[in-house]
Amino acid sequence: MYNILITGGAGYKGTKLTEVFLQEGHKVTILDNFMFGFNPVLGFVDYHNCTILKRDIRNICEADLKGFDFIFHLAGISGYPACEANPHAAEVVNVNSTKKIVSFLAKEQVLVYASTTSFYGSSGEIKDENSVPEPVSLYGKTKYEAEKICMERENSIALRFATLFGVSRRMRCDLLVNDFVYKAINERSLVLFDSKSIRTYLHLKDAVKAYKMTLTQTDKMINSVFNVGSNDMNFSKLELAKRINKHVDFKIIDSDLPDFDSRNFVINYDKINKLGYNADISIDEGIRELIKLYSFYKPFSLYQALDCL
Ligand SMILES: NC(=O)c1ccc[n+]([C@@H]2O[C@H](COP(=O)([O-])OP(=O)(O)OC[C@H]3O[C@@H](n4cnc5c(N)ncnc54)[C@H](O)[C@@H]3O)[C@@H](O)[C@H]2O)c1
Repeated sequence: MYNILITGGAGYKGTKLTEVFLQEGHKVTILDNFMFGFNPVLGFVDYHNCTILKRDIRNICEADLKGFDFIFHLAGISGYPACEANPHAAEVVNVNSTKKIVSFLAKEQVLVYASTTSFYGSSGEIKDENSVPEPVSLYGKTKYEAEKICMERENSIALRFATLFGVSRRMRCDLLVNDFVYKAINERSLVLFDSKSIRTYLHLKDAVKAYKMTLTQTDKMINSVFNVGSNDMNFSKLELAKRINKHVDFKIIDSDLPDFDSRNFVINYDKINKLGYNADISIDEGIRELIKLYSFYKPFSLYQALDCL
């Protein structure tokens, strides 16, 4: 059993990761500034093996990081809209605070960085871990900067995730699949920008499956970068909308207008597949899960959260 710190442990991905690690018996500490409120972690308070710290990573100190075997660094300003809404916070939280965390770590501590496929650019080409990153947004730029900082130290792993979908204790309706299904149900129409551009998707539980591998296959993953997703889940936005249309009756409106977030790529996941990793949950299962959620749920506003910064 490991002593684990999860920065951003109150977030969309962090709460699922916390839940799974606690159930496996690890000692888990959540470190978060709770910019999306406290509700996502209330279900963890009664776990004897869970500690919850309210901290801002901008003010993190060496003592906050001491004694942990693994540090899963997820805290950050996540996604294109959030970074554009507060560019200064994006730079300071995503880059400068990551630098601070790295500077405080002991050599033997394993750092697992929550990276992204978002910085692979807009060429529409196939990208693997050897492709040169070409970030086209502030989010992509700050995430790539932070990944480089993490990977310059020994004992780090970077997982470059596809865009996640599915339900979490801290729900994110801004993620592409989650957003499209929400609009399909609630607006009965979906306006597409840059409809031919290709993105890559993965269910939240499959993201956690990759994180678990960093504990069980550390020796094979250490000092390395992995794309995390599925070769079967690279779809254009139009293809995704049509897939949702098989489950929900709504109108697809292809605007022919560009998307400000101009990402467009096909991601190759062979490197992590070679370690035995495969995604279990299909896009259709994810869509069904989201339809169930949105039959009763309305989202919390991103702008309410950004007021905290
Ligand atoms: N969700 C995805 O599709 C996806 C894909 C690739 C990479 N990632 C990365 O994974 C990480 C987690 O993403 P998420 O989807 O869970 O986003 P999220 O916004 O739900 O989680 C981020 C968490 O970080 C916390 N946080 C933000 N600023 C902080 C600060 N200054 N101090 C302490 N805590 C702070 C927030 O309160 C939140 O709980 C991010 O770094 C993101 O870039 C996410």
